[in-house]
Amino acid sequence: MRRKVIAGNWKMNNNLTESQNLISKLIEGLGKEKTNCEVIICPPFTSLSLAASLISGSIIKLGAQNMYFEENGAYTGEISASMLLSSGCEYVILGHSERRHIFGETDDLINKKIKKALSSGLKPIFCVGETLDERESGVTNEIIKRQVYEGLNGLSEKDLDTIIIAYEPVWAIGTGKTATPNQAQEVHNFIRNLISDKFSSAAAEKIIIQYGGSVKPDNAKELLSQKDIDGALVGGACLKAESFIGIIQAA
Ligand code: 13P
Repeated sequence: MRRKVIAGNWKMNNNLTESQNLISKLIEGLGKEKTNCEVIICPPFTSLSLAASLISGSIIKLGAQNMYFEENGAYTGEISASMLLSSGCEYVILGHSERRHIFGETDDLINKKIKKALSSGLKPIFCVGETLDERESGVTNEIIKRQVYEGLNGLSEKDLDTIIIAYEPVWAIGTGKTATPNQAQEVHNFIRNLISDKFSSAAAEKIIIQYGGSVKPDNAKELLSQKDIDGALVGGACLKAESFIGIIQAA
């Protein structure tokens, strides 16, 4: 039985005061909850240290939203794996569709970042997903296969123990249009089969695959009850403590 993992991607939201308020509400709300799922928050870089100290002793774990693959040096505006570790991060989101589509990240760059995260001791949340155009032209599987195989290129089966894959159809992100549980389950199953073909059936059975794209408290339960959906990567609904906790309760 795989564990359930609920992660909140804050994106470019919340200054220090707002971060403190949201985290305090989460800790207060979750303190009373009995939950057996793993809970991760991914605030912006500027709030990571504060978040790390606020969540200490709670069930919440910390992740970042991006990093660069080089150790250090003249890379203005970038953040390294060691900086994230020293800020208290355990996870890092890599290959998010907003990084791919707004900032032009390629499969090759994402692969380098995944390798660096793993060799540094960070756990990647590796995102894949097709655009609406790609879905409508019937190439969803082809796109997902390319993203998964190129992103995981050169990794070992053991590496997969510390990777979470997040399937986020681009057309469902921030649009209020969720993939139906069947649509999501179909792609999750396809991804699990890809892992089985490239690595092993044992690796495929173990790997956590989250769904992301307009997950809300009222659709979370049905999505999360699908056989191959092991959690959620939540955007908009993680910015309010009540709705993020609602999703955690659904899991
Ligand atoms: P929304 O939940 O706002 O659609 O965002 C999903 C997402 O991109 C999480 O990484």
